[in-house]
Amino acid sequence: MIIVALDFPNADEVKAFIPKLEGQVEWVKVGMELFYSEGPAIVDYLQAQGYKVFLDLKLHDIPNTVSSSLKVIDTMGVGMVNVHALGGIDMLSKAREVVRDTLLIGVTILTSHNDQAISQLNLKGNVFENVLNLATLSDECGLDGIVCSGQDLKGMKDKLREKFLFVTPGIRLNSGSQDQKRIMTPGQAMRAGATHLVIGREITKANDVGASIAAIKKDIDDSLIA
Ligand code: C5P
Repeated sequence: MIIVALDFPNADEVKAFIPKLEGQVEWVKVGMELFYSEGPAIVDYLQAQGYKVFLDLKLHDIPNTVSSSLKVIDTMGVGMVNVHALGGIDMLSKAREVVRDTLLIGVTILTSHNDQAISQLNLKGNVFENVLNLATLSDECGLDGIVCSGQDLKGMKDKLREKFLFVTPGIRLNSGSQDQKRIMTPGQAMRAGATHLVIGREITKANDVGASIAAIKKDIDDSLIA
């Protein structure tokens, strides 16, 4: 499943881009920049165009504040939202109580953190051990899945519930890696166990958006046959 990351600064740029998708994908992602600039109206617009929206706001606060905020988000009818698993068991459980019909995804350790950053935070273990711990907590609290890099999928899938979702960014096929350090092709990520691929610039910056999506779908299909 492809989720196109709409990392645009405002609605005008989104509205100029959306016709290029021409209904070739089901899901789009709205992140903090776009949401803070346009508010719920951008979500309404995308849903009216027929897209399912992943609202990527990475909520992290005390349980009461997160659950109150999720109640507001729940009225928007989005298909997927996320919270930081570092918010802890109480926050995750309360979040799950509020968001019943929307896919609830846990952010584990940000991919901008390496082992050194983990140690500076005085967390025990390396990045992978922390990702696995937070994934397990998310699973136990009834979340639907986690965001994780393709590399972290290996060694994690069999430790979590069978239907757990793995939402994976850092996907590249033809374009350069830009600021992403740990990248995988769409096919490699799906073979490693990703269930949803978050893809931004590979699609949004393509000269031919339709051809880019077709190539991504072919790479996925080929990898699943192979
Ligand atoms: O353009 P690109 O495909 O690199 O965009 C990836 C998207 O996934 C961006 O919206 C980025 O914020 C998001 N993301 C990420 N790494 C994470 C979590 C989210 O790149 N660990």
